[in-house]
Parts: sequence; structure tokens; C-alpha cells
Amino acid sequence: MKLLAIEWKPKVNLKGRDFLTLSDFSTEEIWYLLHLALELKTLQKEGKEYKPLLGKTLGMIFEKSSTRTRVSFEVAMYQLGGQGLFLSSSDIQLGRGETIGDTAQVLSRYVDGIMIRTFAHKKVVELARYATVPVINGLTDSFHPCQVLADLLTIYEIKGALKGLKLAFIGDGNNMSHSLLIGGAKMGMDIAVASPEGYAPDDQVVKLAKDIAKSTGSQIVITTEPVEAVADADVIYTDVWASMGQEAEQKEREKVFPPYQVNEELVSYAKEDYIFLHCLPAHRGEEVSSEIIDGEHSVIFDEAENRLHAQKAILTALMG
Ligand code: CP
Ligand code: NVA
Repeated sequence: MKLLAIEWKPKVNLKGRDFLTLSDFSTEEIWYLLHLALELKTLQKEGKEYKPLLGKTLGMIFEKSSTRTRVSFEVAMYQLGGQGLFLSSSDIQLGRGETIGDTAQVLSRYVDGIMIRTFAHKKVVELARYATVPVINGLTDSFHPCQVLADLLTIYEIKGALKGLKLAFIGDGNNMSHSLLIGGAKMGMDIAVASPEGYAPDDQVVKLAKDIAKSTGSQIVITTEPVEAVADADVIYTDVWASMGQEAEQKEREKVFPPYQVNEELVSYAKEDYIFLHCLPAHRGEEVSSEIIDGEHSVIFDEAENRLHAQKAILTALMG
């Protein structure tokens, strides 16, 4: 079976590439992945099988917990005809000090791709340097590009466009904020991030997003004022106050983050037809009120579902 997206941009060839951050991909390449994801989603909904990864295996290293990433990658590999192999760092020798370099080279002799969820981003970069198969970033302390590809897909499906839309990210300047800044800037979206003093996104990532924005016409705003960020927003996004690995800071963060809760009052400044996104898992009553996350503007479960379709596009493009 031939897919339209593959014919749509024959110039785009991502075979063998790594998927570490969206900054490594052009706007055209991201559009290609989004269209491929839409096609794969349609095929799936129509009950049509498409198995370009027959006989292929994806090693999935997890050094942090996961529900969505683990299940969606495993199901994605199965649906594409291949197999996902769950490798918890507490079970493999990596957790006992075997080097990233050796792990990468050994796994490359068995599997056709490696997905990793870990702490320091430089670990993923190192893994990709030594691996001879594509490496996919399933979340680091700094970036979560698979999530943002699914987010862009969700926004595009609902709004019919990306360029010119305003996305407000309210909360910690974390991995999600970083990937949204980069992915949003690539697609010409306006991105406004509101965080408490001391919790803003990383300066280098903001600079990178602003550089990308110059060529795509997007506007990047970093502020401490949630109302300023949310004003006229088409999309409101938030994430937990303390990410994985920051559990010890939870109490301290609970003192500064409450003014950044996404609630009825705050969303009143957004466009009337705004949509609410959250990468999940969520803490109701902390970063978002139940009324909003469970309300009519929330599309969190469509967003979670799109992890599957977006990652099927990534896997097909890199390993197919
Ligand atoms: N959004 C996300 O990555 O969820 P998991 O931590 O459950 O994988
Ligand atoms: N910022 C969160 C995202 C979880 C998907 C974390 O890193 O824990």
C-alpha cells in the first residue's frame, strides 16, 4: 500500500535519522510527519492494516516511569508489524554502570531502533552518537519532542492550521515548555510562556526558539504574568509543577506555583474557542482545576491518543 504523505513530499527522506529534538527537523519535515500521522490514523480507524516495519524491533529504554510513552510505542510497533522491547534500566546492565556507548553498540546489533526516556539530555545525544540505528527521545529533563509532535497534530486536527495560532504555556519552564517553544516556533505559532520568577525556560532554548521564529514569523514571549500569556490564546497548555526527578522540590514549588493554576478565572482571558492541552499525567487542583481539565474545552484524551499516531509516523519515517 502506498501512502499519500510519502508521495506528497518525495524530497523528504528521514530514513536512518535520529529524533532527539524538533530543532533538528525543518518545518517541511515536521509537516511531512504530521501528514503521515494523519494518514496512519485514518488507516487505523478504517481497520486497514499497514505493516512497513514487519520483522523490525524497537528497543525501549526507560530510566523514568511512563504510561503513555511505553504503551503507545509498544502498540505502535505492533500495529506497524514489528515489536517493541521494554528495557527497564533497573533490569538492564545500564542501571549497573555499563556505559551508554557500549549499550548503544550492543543494542544496535539486535534492534532496528532505540527509544530512550532518561534524565540528562546529553545521555540521549551520546546514545545516538554510538548507535548505528535511529535513536528516538522519549523524554529527557530538557525535551519531549514526541509529545509535541502529538500536540501539533491535535491542534492541527481541531483548528485546521498551526501558523498564526497563539499557544500559552503556563507553569514550569520545563521539558514540555522547551519542546513547545521549539516545535511551535518551527510551525509559525506564537508561543507565550508564563512561569514564576526562577522557573523560566532555559535561556539557550528561548534564544534558539527566537532564532527559529525570525524565519517562520512566529512570536515568542517569556513572562511572569499568566494573564499576559493567556490573552487571546487559541491553545492553553500546562504541565506538573514538579517533573520526574524533582519530587524533593514538590513542597517548595507548591508555595510559588498556585498563581499559575489554569482555572476558570485565567481562561476567561483566552479566545472563546480555546482548547486546553496537558501532556499528562496531571495533578487536578494544582497546575489545573478539575473544571478546566475535565471541561468542554479540554482535548487531553485526543491528545494522548495522538501519541500513538504521531509515533507511528516517526517510526515509519525513520525505520520504514
Ligand atoms: N505524556 C507522557 O509522556 O506520559 P507518560 O509519562 O505516561 O509516558
Ligand atoms: N514535565 C513532565 C512531563 C511528563 C510527561 C516530567 O518530565 O515529568
